[in-house]
Amino acid sequence: MTDDRDPSVSTADGFPTGSGGHDPEVLRQRALDALLTARARTATLTDSVDDGELTAQHSPLMSPLVWDLAHIGNQEEQWLLRAVGGREALRPEIDGLYDAFEHPRAARPSLPLLAPAEARTYASDVRGRALDILEGAPLHEGGRPLERAGFAFGMIAQHEQQHDETMLITHQLRTGPVALTAPAPPAPTEADTLPAEVLVPGGPFTMGTSAEPWALDNERPAHRREVAAFHLDTAPVTCGAYRRFIEDGGYTDPRWWAPEGWDMVREHDLAAPLFWHRDAGQWLRRRFGVTEPVPDDEPVLHVSWYEADAYARWAGRRLPTEAEWEKAARHDPATGRSLRYPWGDTDPTPEQANLGQRHLRPARAGAYPAGRAPSGAGQLIGDVWEWTSSDFLPYPGFVAFPYREYSDVFFGPGHKVLRGGSFAVDQVACRGTFRNWDLPVRRQIFSGFRTARDA
Ligand code: AVJ
Ligand code: FE
Repeated sequence: MTDDRDPSVSTADGFPTGSGGHDPEVLRQRALDALLTARARTATLTDSVDDGELTAQHSPLMSPLVWDLAHIGNQEEQWLLRAVGGREALRPEIDGLYDAFEHPRAARPSLPLLAPAEARTYASDVRGRALDILEGAPLHEGGRPLERAGFAFGMIAQHEQQHDETMLITHQLRTGPVALTAPAPPAPTEADTLPAEVLVPGGPFTMGTSAEPWALDNERPAHRREVAAFHLDTAPVTCGAYRRFIEDGGYTDPRWWAPEGWDMVREHDLAAPLFWHRDAGQWLRRRFGVTEPVPDDEPVLHVSWYEADAYARWAGRRLPTEAEWEKAARHDPATGRSLRYPWGDTDPTPEQANLGQRHLRPARAGAYPAGRAPSGAGQLIGDVWEWTSSDFLPYPGFVAFPYREYSDVFFGPGHKVLRGGSFAVDQVACRGTFRNWDLPVRRQIFSGFRTARDA
């Protein structure tokens, strides 16, 4: 048996928890940084448009931005002020308005939501109190599960960052003057020499985690999985490759499509990824308010699971399973253990992954050589969320924590797993074990994919 609490030994996952991984004071500082980073991003996303745009619904698929803002504050109030801090509700009457299960997104604009100024004041009042609570919270092992290793603070920073990604999707869907800009991500240096695919040898590996302090319930516990040998694309499928599927009649041939996918293509007349259109024989795309040529060597974005699945079949390949994806991303054959990230156990740097909305687009295929996994696959973390063939299911031994509505109510065949994070997600909400999920028809998310084949 290994012991999670002893920083000098390896944990059940196999990764060392040294370097302050479970030191309460290190985690307190990390939680403070993560909360402040998230709030700075929230401010950028909500201060870059006027009040009219904050309260407007830019798409029936999304909430008004002002809903996300107050919902961020309300979740923080419920978990940090009330559950951890034992405080009374600041505004008990608003809980229902910001309960995602009570009101579907399309109905949110007609609710008596807090106006932009009120929502800002509410979120910042909550934050001030949350930071007081963080200062005095006992984060040690053996304490209450919510406080242990700062879990609730890490969970709330992740929640805010997840909504910052949701708000960036709303920004992408909105029309009107450009509100957000960012520098281009680094270009690849050795793209031409990269093999198209890597071979991941067969054998067991450790999937999920029991040691990562802020891993969410669905990433737990660590467990062994047998994975047969397979080949995986070195980089995500590019726009240029996807264009060949389109030009080969991919969207008009039912052979490539799952039956429900083919229904979707016909019902909505799909012919290309969301935000693409053809003009004078050229493919263009709209990206945060700018129309530009589709870049052939950039990972394709805004495709549904059905489109990814159809492309893979057309290419004579398939989507990787979730276990294959994680083995390619984390398994280190040299030590037999699973890494926190493809490059090792250290937190992401800007040289390793395109995360955190630093760039408002994926980097070209072959970029981030410093982020590659032992398998040789690159750009697994950041750039684009990658669809896998797998349904979103609990790992053996799963326990819902701290609330069923985060993961448990979504398990089942209706949702497909996405892995690896996009340029829009912050590192606090992205790691080798992180699991995202969505409906297979979803395409407004920052989704792409890579393909695999049996070895
Ligand atoms: C994990 C991204 C699917 O946005 O629906 C936010 C995250 N859960 N608030 C979502 C989440 C509650 C969730 N995803
Ligand atoms: Fe939420």
